[in-house]
Amino acid sequence: MAKKSKLVLTHRPRRLRRQPSRRALVTETVLCTQDLIAPLFVVEGKGAPEPIASMPGVSRFSIDDLVKECVELHSLGVPAVALFPKLDAGLKDAGGTEALNPKTLVLRAVRAVKKAVPELTVITDVALDPYTTHGHDGVLTPSGDDVDNDRTVAILCEMAVLQAAAGVDFVAPSDMMDGRVGAIRQALDEAGYISTGILAYSAKFNSAYYGPFRDAVGSAKAAGTRLLSKATYQMNPANRREALGEVALDEQEGADIVMVKPAGLYLDIIREVRNATKKPVAAYQVSGEYAQIHAAAQLGWLDLVRCRDESLLAIKRAGADMILTYFAKDVAMSLAK
Ligand code: PBG
Repeated sequence: MAKKSKLVLTHRPRRLRRQPSRRALVTETVLCTQDLIAPLFVVEGKGAPEPIASMPGVSRFSIDDLVKECVELHSLGVPAVALFPKLDAGLKDAGGTEALNPKTLVLRAVRAVKKAVPELTVITDVALDPYTTHGHDGVLTPSGDDVDNDRTVAILCEMAVLQAAAGVDFVAPSDMMDGRVGAIRQALDEAGYISTGILAYSAKFNSAYYGPFRDAVGSAKAAGTRLLSKATYQMNPANRREALGEVALDEQEGADIVMVKPAGLYLDIIREVRNATKKPVAAYQVSGEYAQIHAAAQLGWLDLVRCRDESLLAIKRAGADMILTYFAKDVAMSLAK
């Protein structure tokens, strides 16, 4: 017969896990609706929402439907949306000139949303990828083998001023050109937009997890590949110190909020950035992170809601103050119950 075990223990951590109310008292991290930013896609016309195959539950909206979605998100308590246009292929060219059309789709969308729900914070991407035939975030060098940093920054500055004029709360340079945050800050200030903030994609990695997003905005189709290489401007996923350097530069150049992207695979970076800066830290749970949870759930291999919530909690625990996530509306609806 086995001897009756008698452990004498000073510490029994399980005491704190005994029942839900004890666990509630010692919870360190809570995900709330006000942490969430909903990325939304907009298309021309009045058609029905267009589902995106690689992003279950996400659609591209006409401006009218986009406004309705924003009204709903606002009433659920989601504080912000990030808008991404999908352009008709005919509007794209190598220089991304449609980006500087004062009546371009995303600017009309911003005006419509701001008119309907002025209190909702609206964020727009500053990068050329929805507008270029090659799908890169900037214009190419004469030889065509790289993105031209300084010419691109000049265009991004004009783009940011147009977005500010349309009424956005934050412009979000997602292009990873050197010096763009400082240049954009100066351009905004010179144009009088001192209250328009900059949410900088500071540590944006050259990730394979952007594939579904490139389907959504059509930048992949334009380029002929979903995995078009942006390695000469987006960061090497191997680099942690460099990420801190990028964040420090954006902070010096005037970023109001710094961002790490993707999120779930870069929790170490989020934590280090959180410890290194006093600025608010955003994290972007990207399209591929969303897609992989959905795909596994569709196969019955993972529980969608639990994985959704755990993935976001982990990002918050790592140190993110706010999270861009395609789950924003679903989570807000769950939390409202
Ligand atoms: C474009 C941009 C990308 C994302 C946001 N802005 C894609 C890219 O850099 O190719 C990715 C978002 C996602 O995957 O959800 N500058």
